[in-house]
Amino acid sequence: MSEMRAETTILVPGKIPAYAADRIGERFRLVGIDKADPALLTEEMKRSVVGIASATIVNAAFIDALPNLRIIANFGVGYDGVDAAHAGTRNVMVTNTPDVLTEEVADTAIGLLINTVRELPKAESWLRAGRWRGEGPYPLTRGTLRGRSVGIFGLGRIGRAIARRIEAFGLPVSYHNRRQVQGVDYEYHPTLLSLAEAVDTLISVAPGGAATEKIVNAEIFTALGANGVFVNVGRGSAVDEAALAEALEKETILAAGLDVFADEPNVPEALLARENACLLPHVGSASVHTRQAMADLMVDNLIAWFTKGEALTPVAE
Ligand code: DGY
Repeated sequence: MSEMRAETTILVPGKIPAYAADRIGERFRLVGIDKADPALLTEEMKRSVVGIASATIVNAAFIDALPNLRIIANFGVGYDGVDAAHAGTRNVMVTNTPDVLTEEVADTAIGLLINTVRELPKAESWLRAGRWRGEGPYPLTRGTLRGRSVGIFGLGRIGRAIARRIEAFGLPVSYHNRRQVQGVDYEYHPTLLSLAEAVDTLISVAPGGAATEKIVNAEIFTALGANGVFVNVGRGSAVDEAALAEALEKETILAAGLDVFADEPNVPEALLARENACLLPHVGSASVHTRQAMADLMVDNLIAWFTKGEALTPVAE
């Protein structure tokens, strides 16, 4: 093991959890830089780095600046920040952290849905502001889960975990996905628009990247209708945020619950201004338990790759 450590340099650009860095340091030589910028690489790093462990953007130029790179281990299931197609052309393995965060993110989606529809965060702020005693009961909410029909955009592992939870509420589930999913009974819609026309509640688990860029747009919000609720635990880049803010302002939809944004950690002022939006700082998988499991899987991918030449969870490109 000490030999592997001496020979194998893993670069961490930007931040990863301390637990993950400690585990990498136990098995490898770890070096760090502030972000994945070729200008920050020393000549020694360019020569020695064979692996990247990262939760940040790793683009083609950065990959090309590391001639001996063999693996990029992404901290997270979503790897839209990594140019995996380019990595493929350089025979660089890319791994992510599926499965271990599925239930956590699905729980977050359901929490966000209920909080959004029933205005629970708003009601809590109202109580803390001392308004209960002065004003009597909190105003009744227009929103309710009862009678809703739920569409899921992206029926992968997390989408299916959300669907199971929605079924437990007794609400019908339908979905849109790149491809129809075998072995599920939910109604399939070949387009996002036909899904949005059929439901009043849309939960997006869609990944980021060029194929989904701003795909949840004004037309989709109009299709959801005045009782419409939009929840996003996938990627913010899939949403036209200006169109969403306008739909919320004009109340052409009822409310939105968002855990993800296009330019994190920047949240558009137009969304911050909307009281009918429930906004979270990308906490879908952010429990100690789940983040530790993600870190373990990321590091175990590095170990498997450098000891056996096989990754545990390679991404499919
Ligand atoms: C992921 O893993 O892609 C999640 O967004 C992290 O919370």
